[in-house]
Amino acid sequence: MIKYLGSKRRLVPVLGELFAGSGARTGLDLFTGTTRVAQEMCRRGMDVTAVDTASYSEVLAQCYVEADADTVDAAEVAGALDRLACLEPVRGYVTEVFCERSRYFQPRNGMRIDAVRQGIDDLYGDSPLRSLLLTSLLRAADAVDSTVGVQMAYLKEWSRRSARELVLRPPVLTPGAGRAVRADAASVVDDLPHVDVAYLDPPYNKHRYFANYHVWETLVRWDRPEPYGVAAKRADCRDAVSRSVFNGRRTMPAALAETVRRVRADTVVLSFSDEGYVALPDLVEMCRARGQDVRTLSFESDRYVGAKIGIHNRAGEKVGSVGRLRNVEHLVLAGDGDRLDAMVARVAALQEA
Ligand SMILES: C[S@@+](CC[C@H](N)C(=O)[O-])C[C@H]1O[C@@H](n2cnc3c(N)ncnc32)[C@H](O)[C@@H]1O
Repeated sequence: MIKYLGSKRRLVPVLGELFAGSGARTGLDLFTGTTRVAQEMCRRGMDVTAVDTASYSEVLAQCYVEADADTVDAAEVAGALDRLACLEPVRGYVTEVFCERSRYFQPRNGMRIDAVRQGIDDLYGDSPLRSLLLTSLLRAADAVDSTVGVQMAYLKEWSRRSARELVLRPPVLTPGAGRAVRADAASVVDDLPHVDVAYLDPPYNKHRYFANYHVWETLVRWDRPEPYGVAAKRADCRDAVSRSVFNGRRTMPAALAETVRRVRADTVVLSFSDEGYVALPDLVEMCRARGQDVRTLSFESDRYVGAKIGIHNRAGEKVGSVGRLRNVEHLVLAGDGDRLDAMVARVAALQEA
């Protein structure tokens, strides 16, 4: 899966046990990002709706949540990827903006990304395979990028992985046909169907996903925006419309409280980092406002790799000290007390195993 700030890679087994312990058959992943958690819901046999504002998340959700592993023809996917992989490299937008003007990819790979991306529109624009092919390209590009996992900057020296060849691999699909929804969680929350369990993993501080992953946004939209600044970001990164209410220190707590209160689910699982704008007691209060029982679980984990490398100026000199290297991810559960206890017991059993 692509490198992503706040991705719940390590928490997925825990979340899977929580979902199973709740007995849920329907699930909502309201800030789905990479779709990792939604995929786990699918693997647990749930009917899943995945929501995010990002275009790349929508494509990932169309691939991993909407497409059904049991009905997609694997040979057809493999054939399409082979066809795209054979296209003649071209010097297009990616090469010019993300390899020459900035340095996210080595030009050799940038030219292949250009050819494959245009090929997807030309050859598979109306195909049901489109989201699978785009997902394959996103993952292939992520595997040869030259960043520490965010696209606000690229490395001064090429990363070792950027020298590798771009390889298109078939995505590993999940069973069941769910729904991908590209929408603002705060606006859409009342329109979503009632579910057994809703998972909420909102942004927890000022770091905006739209700007941090502008390369993926552009690669999916393929709208060739005017780039600006050293990071060659999309011009619309500066627009108010690309800002999330969940990234504002003043706007986030009320928006989150409202969303938690309104989401239509028997059980809510709310993820939040101890580095976020809202402290654990306030998260508990937000969940209590649903009129349900509440339990909390906390997990310590490594911070993202950029935190370990430290803070550098444009010349690559260290200008700040390395902050703390571990953070705590809180899970606040709201629902029927007996059901929550059964969920927590599954996690305890997992940790003892
Ligand atoms: C912490 S990340 C979620 C990570 C995800 N659970 C994973 O494992 O990949 C937060 C996500 O919220 C999305 N987001 C930001 N503002 C949003 C909004 N107003 N409505 C819906 N999604 C939003 C971001 O695009 C980002 O993908």
